[in-house]
Amino acid sequence: MAQTTRSAAGQPASAAPPPSLPPPPKGFRSAELGWPELHRIPHPPRRLPFLGDVLGADARTPLQDSMRMGQRLGPIFRRKAFGKEFVFVWGAGLVADLADESRFAKHVGLGVANLRPVAGDGLFTAYNHEPNWQLAHDILAPGFSREAMAGYHPLMLDVARQLTARWDERESAGRPVDVPGDMTKLTLETIARTGFGHDFGSFERSAPHPFVRAMVGTLSFAQRRNVVPPLLAPLVLRGAGRRNDADMAYLNRTVDAVVAARRAASGPGGHGDLLDRMLEVAHPETGERLSPENIRRQVITFLVAGHETTSGALSFALHYLSRSPEVLARARAEVDEVWGAEGEPAYEQVAKLRYVRRVLDESLRLWPTAPAFAREAREDTTLGGEHPMRRGAWALVLATMLHRDPAVWGEHPEEFDPDRFAPSAVRARPAHVFKPFGTGARACIGRQFALHEATLVLGLLLRRYDLHADPGYRLRVAERLTLMPDGLTLRLTRRSPAA
Ligand code: HEM
Repeated sequence: MAQTTRSAAGQPASAAPPPSLPPPPKGFRSAELGWPELHRIPHPPRRLPFLGDVLGADARTPLQDSMRMGQRLGPIFRRKAFGKEFVFVWGAGLVADLADESRFAKHVGLGVANLRPVAGDGLFTAYNHEPNWQLAHDILAPGFSREAMAGYHPLMLDVARQLTARWDERESAGRPVDVPGDMTKLTLETIARTGFGHDFGSFERSAPHPFVRAMVGTLSFAQRRNVVPPLLAPLVLRGAGRRNDADMAYLNRTVDAVVAARRAASGPGGHGDLLDRMLEVAHPETGERLSPENIRRQVITFLVAGHETTSGALSFALHYLSRSPEVLARARAEVDEVWGAEGEPAYEQVAKLRYVRRVLDESLRLWPTAPAFAREAREDTTLGGEHPMRRGAWALVLATMLHRDPAVWGEHPEEFDPDRFAPSAVRARPAHVFKPFGTGARACIGRQFALHEATLVLGLLLRRYDLHADPGYRLRVAERLTLMPDGLTLRLTRRSPAA
């Protein structure tokens, strides 16, 4: 079993060097430059000079604002902010076209490009042309093979046990649980231990680990940079820029300590985890290795990308389960039947929870926790046979709206119904209509990891607890590039001591 290192309980640094606001993201190209017939794409009716389409917009919820606009304006629309146009696409036919890898590729723009100062050319934020993307992809992809996943399973169970120990205490005390807070602890510990042999000790803390606070800080800052005009940014974001610098420095220090601990403890090798691959493995064809600076970027990338989205997915699923007694009863019956009342599930037993997996898919349909991704034209082309695009022109795909397109999902797309993911229903739908993990070569490398972890944890929780929703709670979705149900708590009762 891999040895874990412990994290120092430091706070993000508060000593403030001058803020280093980076220049506008390199990947940004205003749509006027790339869409010759932009005028044919609708935009909101009341545009303000200079500010653009900001009436009714809320800087804290740009995604939900865009969803409302998309509902009114249709499957392709544009928004203008501070003199720049953005094209949004959500209609199933147009998204299927954007998924054609021979004509389109990932575009690193907006929020993703804003993360470059911290994640650099790590896998998520790398430009397509950067050689470190292919190098890191080839070195790290085997870290998500079936065999690798089976190796992570016991560590995932260890972390889940810590969660249930904590939830048992809350249950005995008759106190509700903070769902997003505890899911974040669980998923951070899981990626840290399975990927890097590191233990943040999250469950021994009452407040989130400083790593989480620093991460939320950088994600929120990246989102704010999208909604503040670049000219005003140095003024408006001065204080926030300073805090962001401190947060980034803290993330870097934490990651450097994790890598140093691995080198010092036993030297790399022997853990067989992602960190070993980063430190030890050479590219199978070229023999090239990741540089120390790139390893730093990759560790931050995986610690952040590997937990924030899964935590949101689990939280939304628990919200819907607690509100849907019939769904919950079916899911639990499946767990009882497949796993039995006692004992820990083996690796192979997790994927057998087919209905629990549908609950997860349906939650990711309504709230894909990485809610948008951008695609750019590889060459001059015409989107959907109607909208000419020049090479490099790009559009943002709104997965939340794609997943509500009535042409695919029917008249009541807001209804939570896991049977939408029954095999026959999936077969009856066209391709590319469900995209919570992105698309093509740059789709999520951690998909299987996330699905295994989340299915395992939902199964364990359903077997152990009855979930009681707070009757006064109405779903509020918090945005910080990713999505999370804001303020969600649940009351629990233990089903039976054996479970
Ligand atoms: C429910 C959980 C998750 C969701 C919804 C999700 C979603 C996504 C999406 C939409 C993308 C593509 C972004 C784009 O096109 O710009 C992506 C990429 C990525 N994800 Fe995930 N993800 C999840 C879990 C994970 C986990 C557990 C890991 C790591 C253990 C991970 C690591 C990554 C990385 C490294 C990339 C970049 C891949 C590349 O460009 O080569 N994700 N994810």
